[in-house]
This record gives sequence, C-alpha cells and structure tokens, in this order.
Amino acid sequence: MKCKICKEKAIIKLKRHNIKLCKEHFNDFFLKQVDRAIKEYKMFKKEDKIMVCVSGGKDSLVLWYVLKKLGYNSVGMYINLGISEYSENSKKKVIEFAKRFDLQYKIVDLVELGYPIPKVAKESRRAECSVCGIIKRYYFNKVAFDEGFDVVATGHNLDDEASRLLGNILHWNEEYLKKQLPVLPAEGNMLKKKVKPLIRLTEKEIASYAFLNRIDYIIDECPLSEGATSLVYKDALNLIEENIVGTKQFFYFQYVKKLLKEIKQSQSEKRYLKKCKICGMESFHDICSFCRLVKDEKQ
Ligand code: FES
Ligand code: ZN
Ligand code: ZN
Repeated sequence: MKCKICKEKAIIKLKRHNIKLCKEHFNDFFLKQVDRAIKEYKMFKKEDKIMVCVSGGKDSLVLWYVLKKLGYNSVGMYINLGISEYSENSKKKVIEFAKRFDLQYKIVDLVELGYPIPKVAKESRRAECSVCGIIKRYYFNKVAFDEGFDVVATGHNLDDEASRLLGNILHWNEEYLKKQLPVLPAEGNMLKKKVKPLIRLTEKEIASYAFLNRIDYIIDECPLSEGATSLVYKDALNLIEENIVGTKQFFYFQYVKKLLKEIKQSQSEKRYLKKCKICGMESFHDICSFCRLVKDEKQ
C-alpha cells in the first residue's frame, strides 16, 4: 500500500476519498480538512478569541491541538461534571495535555458549585444525559460571555452529526433539525457563536490522528452514556457506509446545503431573547433552562 502523494509506505486508507496516505500526508490532509471547514462555514478568523470545550476525549483534545497548529488563539474550557472516576481521570488528561502543549485552560467545577450531574439528575428526576446537556450548555455560554470569547468551538465530528441527523429525522424532531449546522450564529449579546471545526472528519480519522500524534486522551466513554441511542444510530450508519462508501458524508452535507439555502431564502422571523429572571443570562424563556432545572430540584 503506497501513499498516493509521495509513494512512500501508506499507513491509512481513506475509502470515502479513495486515497491511501503516509503519516506525513495524512497529517496534512487532516489539517486541510479542518482549515477547509473553518473557511467554508466562516467559523472564525485569526484574531478571534476561541473557547474550545474540552472533555479529555479524543475529539476535543485533537481539536485543541489542531487549532494551535493552525495558529489560532484558543483557550480550553473543561467542566468537572462530578461523575466519579470518569471525571477525575478526564480532568487529569486535560491538565496534562495543556501543560504538555503549553495551552491555557479554565475549569468549571460542578462539584464545588453544588451541581454535580448525578445529584441534579436524581433531585430533578430527569435523565442524566439531558441534565448534563443543559448544564454544560449553560456554563459554556456563561464562561464565553463572562470572559469575552468571540466563539465557542466543540469537537463534534461527522459521525456525531450524521448520527444525530438520522435520529432527529427518525423522530421528526423539527426543532432540532433546524439546528444541525456546522455553525450556529450568536444570539442576543450573551449567547456566542458555536462552531464545529472537525465536521469534515470521521471518528476513525480523528482517532488515527490522535494516535499518530501521540495525543493522550481518555478512552473510556462517560459511564452515564452507556446504552445511549446515539450509539445505535452510529452503528447503523457505519454499516451503511461499509456497503455504500460516502453515504455518511453525502447524507450530512447535502442536508446542510439544503438547510443553509432555506435559511437564506426565508425572511427568518427573529426570535427575541429575554433575560432570565433568576440569573440574568439571556434565554428564550422568562427563566432559563438551567435555572428551571436547578429550581425544580429544590422544590
Ligand atoms: Fe454528560 Fe455523560 S458526559 S452525562
Ligand atoms: Zn506521502
Ligand atoms: Zn437562569
């Protein structure tokens, strides 16, 4: 197996691009894919202050690493979710990684704040993953606003987005479907722009990149996400992809194209933001989802 570019020994075969690459050219390919996503969807510019949401997993650490390599100004933001050993180990990975590559980071500690996920989920009688989503989103928005970041970047990849799209279509979640874009614009003054620079790369490509560049990440998945339906959709898409190469990419990006066209055409009705009556963050409700969650818990 030879690299398509230099004819040296190839180490990876990228079926959906129909190429084989050596280590050096795979690294180049990877950076180009990220750079292309950033520019194509106008994610951010060199002068922007980027907050990267890091969990200690491969996607977010690779994203952080690549943004530095591409010369962007980014700061990591880690939330200690208070999920036993998993949180302890992931925090360790983030700190070690930041030290090794001389990167700046911030930590929000939900245990110190009194909102560890298992506790809030139990007291509000809601599913852990949904509680986790609300709380994470809240603090990502809050820290980005409080610290004056221009944009919030997450490590979502093609598999994440394509499987989410499949799940949302299967359940016709129209509200969510409207948000399945690589870039979500800022809303109001407090909710910053959200971007997904790894959107053109698959989970396997990201894992290969992490391995080749010796990026040490937490391999364990969050113990609370076991049995998550998203994994079923990922498996289903992988099965299709194996038989019909390129389906995943076509499925997601054709949808994005269609959605962006619709947004442009529609005289998009403006949604007006209010300020949460309890904490003052901007929200589409009188009381934001976070305060409703935490308030319910205390009742
Ligand atoms: Fe949020 Fe596991 S990471 S519930
Ligand atoms: Zn090569
Ligand atoms: Zn609030």
